[in-house]
Amino acid sequence: YLNYHVPRTRREILEILLKGLLRLEYRGYDSAGVGIDGGNSKEWEANARTIQLIKQSGKVKALDDELTKQQDMDMDVEFDVHLGIAHTRWATHGAPSPVNSHPQRSDKNNEFIVIHNGIITNYKDLQKFLESKAYEFESETDTETIAKLVKYMYDNRESEDLSFATLVERVTQQLEGAFVLVFKSVHYPGEAVGTRRGGPLLIGVKSDHKLSTDHIPILYRSLRYCISPAGKDKKGCPTLPRMEQDTCHTLFAEEKKSVEYYFASDASAVIEHTNRVIFLEDDDVAAVTAGRLTIHRIKRTAGDHPARAIQTLQMELQQIMKGNYSSFMQKEIFEQPVVCVTLGGLKDHIKEIQRCRRLILIACGTSYHAGVATRQVLEELTELPVMVELASDFLDRNTPVFRDDVCFFISQSGETADSLMALRYCKERGALTVGVTNTVGSSVSRETDCGVHINAGPEIGVASTKAYTSQFVALIMFALLMCDDRISMQPRRREIIQGLRVLPELIKEVLSLDDEIQRLAAELYQQKSVLIMGRGYHYATCLEGALKIKEITYMHSEGILAGELKHGPLALVDKLMPVIMIIMRDHTYTKCQNALQQVVARAGRPIVICDKDDYETAKSSRRTIKVPHCVDCLQGILSVIPLQLLSFHLAVLRGFDVDCPRNLAKSVTVE
Ligand code: F6R
Repeated sequence: YLNYHVPRTRREILEILLKGLLRLEYRGYDSAGVGIDGGNSKEWEANARTIQLIKQSGKVKALDDELTKQQDMDMDVEFDVHLGIAHTRWATHGAPSPVNSHPQRSDKNNEFIVIHNGIITNYKDLQKFLESKAYEFESETDTETIAKLVKYMYDNRESEDLSFATLVERVTQQLEGAFVLVFKSVHYPGEAVGTRRGGPLLIGVKSDHKLSTDHIPILYRSLRYCISPAGKDKKGCPTLPRMEQDTCHTLFAEEKKSVEYYFASDASAVIEHTNRVIFLEDDDVAAVTAGRLTIHRIKRTAGDHPARAIQTLQMELQQIMKGNYSSFMQKEIFEQPVVCVTLGGLKDHIKEIQRCRRLILIACGTSYHAGVATRQVLEELTELPVMVELASDFLDRNTPVFRDDVCFFISQSGETADSLMALRYCKERGALTVGVTNTVGSSVSRETDCGVHINAGPEIGVASTKAYTSQFVALIMFALLMCDDRISMQPRRREIIQGLRVLPELIKEVLSLDDEIQRLAAELYQQKSVLIMGRGYHYATCLEGALKIKEITYMHSEGILAGELKHGPLALVDKLMPVIMIIMRDHTYTKCQNALQQVVARAGRPIVICDKDDYETAKSSRRTIKVPHCVDCLQGILSVIPLQLLSFHLAVLRGFDVDCPRNLAKSVTVE
């Protein structure tokens, strides 16, 4: 957060930073830290010549508590200009601890500090190089190499007027892997530099003045400067042409206009301050100097957009507040009757998609399950072969992809590293790429050729719920669009469209089972394991229900295809093993009844999710959860909600933080 000619006390600055971290906490919450100007003088520039770092393990609350203990910081000192950076971490390299938290620092005097999302894959080489230059490392993180490298490059600069942005550019050229970085330095008071490669970074802009432009033209310049990992500076590299600050376009025509900038990895951190944001692209370097924002890139490549638009976010603050719910997950489960998927983004490409030879749905986790759930109806309505792929496995296999394939990337966040890599892989092979995401401006939505926005509203609970059902609906609507001119398909289309019309009411009916499911959770919460069985349209429900239980209750849970029962999993069944079965009146009903009998014959006493008038199934069950009937291909939306509710209540009864399960983070921007 950077304020320029907006007087703020240190207390206000910390409040802004911590509130921002709380909004981002769902992305990682094992430790947190903040770096702000250290001095207590009335001169902001003097204050900015020292940096104070405060870091703590645990959630943002622990950092907040730590801050209240700081005696030597005057909370009422006012800063006319100030940059503070803060980070909440999901550990990759190095266990959660204060020293491994970000910001990471260049040295004991905190000359340069940096916050980082992502993984630097060549950090060991860089560390070796820096150690050979007598740098001593204090943390186990890959990020610390960046903080040390920036100092090394600063100390070895060839001219006194090296800009902060240039320095950062030089550093990023040495980095391999994925990163989103924001830097602060005592050598560049009141200046911020942020850059990204392979992860999201946006800048919120708030000012009472009219912005001089609604877009920021990109400044290009060629730059060659490198150090070899072996430890020697390369001789003969031309020095950098000086950046012509005065000729480049900036956000404000005049200086000294008051403005606040919010650099963040997610819009939820900035929305309460401003809805005017700029989404950065990979390799953009954004710098605020003397209150003016510039964005530049090292080289222009074909297809580059020459400017970054200042966009207006549609998000409302209340969308990211819990309201009267005890957790975001609970709120999001109950938001499911409102589904507002629109397919506008596909219109121009639908003819091209209709001509394709194969559809490939690629995703991770819950989003992958949305693909499994809708595969059958996609095959039926498009009459195309449909593959559903886990992004990581798809890449591991070097799966053949052709120009006449259409590849869907289903991702709530639009930032999942595995899905993004698969997207780039498919683009390189000439396939048409389609995004199905919940996040406007995300990498998936920007990098795909076209796409669908599922409009589920921000999903903050780490366990995905409403995004799953909205992805499900989006894919079915796509299938309907694909066959809207096929006469033979019309009766089936009408049946499904009618199903979509009544779906919100039916979802409400399922949600009214909440008390009953809470009672069921009270019976099960001390168990170690739960098996969930089903087939056909409901296999995805089994996988998704088991994933929900695993991730927030830490109980073992397995989704089992009922057709596979006799090929192994039946051995797990006895009178003690909790078994949940999904048996709906569709074309697999008789086969599911067989599976039910096989379980009962092994003394199993299954809990069955079934149609509300299915008395036959009830006879062989320990208990039934009765859901309303819907058209077969949409029934999976109604069968998954009881399992979402069950996992929620189990987690609450087991005493766990529903929104922030251990070891996980909402948006997995690392491989
Ligand atoms: C589980 C869950 C994860 C995500 C997965 C993909 O509840 O949320 O399995 O579904 O990490 O994330 P997105 O959809 O953002 O690509």
